[in-house]
Amino acid sequence: MSQECDILIIGAGIAGLRAALTASQFGKVILLTKGKIGESATEKAQGGIAAAIDEIRDSTQFHFEDTIKAGAGLCNEDAVRILVNEGVDRVKELIEMGAQFDKAETEGGFALALEGAHKRRRILHAGDATGAEIEKTLGYNVIKEGLVEVYPLTLGIKLEVNDGQCFGAVALDTKNNKIETFFSKATILTTGGVCQNYLYTTNPEVATGDGVAMAYNEGAEVTDMEFIQFHPTTLVHSKEFEDIVALPQFLISEAVRGEGAILLNNRGERFIEELAPRDIVSRAIVEEMNKTNADHVFLSLKLPPEKTKNRFPVIYKTCLERGLDITRDQIPVAPGAHYFMGGVKTDTNAKTNIKNLFAAGECASLGVHGANRLASNSLLDGLVFGHRAALSAREVLNGKVKFKSSPSPFTKNTLTPREIKRYMLIIKTTMWNDVGIIRSEQSLKNAQNKLNKLPIFTPQDRAEAELQNMLCTARLITQAALDRKESRGAHFRTDHTKIDDIKWKKHLIYKK
Ligand code: SIN
Repeated sequence: MSQECDILIIGAGIAGLRAALTASQFGKVILLTKGKIGESATEKAQGGIAAAIDEIRDSTQFHFEDTIKAGAGLCNEDAVRILVNEGVDRVKELIEMGAQFDKAETEGGFALALEGAHKRRRILHAGDATGAEIEKTLGYNVIKEGLVEVYPLTLGIKLEVNDGQCFGAVALDTKNNKIETFFSKATILTTGGVCQNYLYTTNPEVATGDGVAMAYNEGAEVTDMEFIQFHPTTLVHSKEFEDIVALPQFLISEAVRGEGAILLNNRGERFIEELAPRDIVSRAIVEEMNKTNADHVFLSLKLPPEKTKNRFPVIYKTCLERGLDITRDQIPVAPGAHYFMGGVKTDTNAKTNIKNLFAAGECASLGVHGANRLASNSLLDGLVFGHRAALSAREVLNGKVKFKSSPSPFTKNTLTPREIKRYMLIIKTTMWNDVGIIRSEQSLKNAQNKLNKLPIFTPQDRAEAELQNMLCTARLITQAALDRKESRGAHFRTDHTKIDDIKWKKHLIYKK
């Protein structure tokens, strides 16, 4: 079976949905998502979306400066300028589309939150379920007019690339276990990040690096693979709930610290400036946990109980379900893998090195976050560069759709479900222990040895494809972390603890 369209979009988080809305003005658009619309990291984003919409107290220049500072010398300044400037317009459009952000009696009319390393309050939020509000708004707008053909439960498994040009993708209809080819004039990857490679992560189960692996396998350049952001505060589950593979770590938003919550070690002592950049706070927490031989530290809220319930209803309810009343109890927290600054290398127009292949959002890397992303800039990135990817796709629509593929049907699985789970767990524990918040040459070489023993094969179903994608990106992350012999942003090595601008103020690029 095959389908034909002008623009094929793979992934339905904020970047994919925003790209779909823009692209639908230019031709026939097909949107593939391996889950359903709403099953994405966007949907889980709590804190909010940063934009300098308060023109009195804030400015795009301040937002630019904060983003550059957080990026630890590796931001692409042009990309950041675009992010902060166009971001304001994209957020206003989102509001016009119906997104409901919390209001206040202030200049712009919105209740703006503060998060780590922002010098101004500039985070628009919908309680602590901002991503869900945005996903709902964009998803509704994509579906309501029937402007886009959406294929849920359809996993992109291989890009159709001939002579350095992309003509669509082969995908797996996971409901009927059938393969289908989608031919297109332009293809946009918006498949999200890779943090399911880690044992502890805030990311949903779908974040298995599919787009990055697919693009790399067909000759796309990938970059900044060593930069994984670890969020300092994820809820440490009580033993009763502990199921390390099935249960993603529940995020306790940075906005909680923005509202004055403090971090305490298990002796009740404060040990860090709570709103310092995430890498610094995460490392301080790990050091404190090691010193006090604990698997968590505590987050202590300072707000009146009613304000806590109103401002953080999802966190309040989720913690309550897990036996914690955060209006009086301290929250046990530890860091978890949260965001991927690396990905398919693109320019500011979302172009990759493969003709007619574009990428945006967390699967893309253009240096907009440098070595460490500023809090609440990821939704903005998806919105701004998802839109830009669609504009770039429009430029190639005078080309022809080229039919070539005759994908072989899936046959018998290579691995049993038990083997798949076991190999995934090996990847996750290896990455967490050896390629995690604190790394060294020795830990990275250990990781390489372990990952090199895992099998590479042609996948025959979704689980096998995800395993292969995880393995592909885990190896690249480990290689890049080994190659970068310094510490910068989210990449910290005990054997090279300093930033080294002379040798390493550059992006590492990998190509198959
Ligand atoms: C959070 O709510 O702390 C996460 C926001 C982000 O990752 O930008």
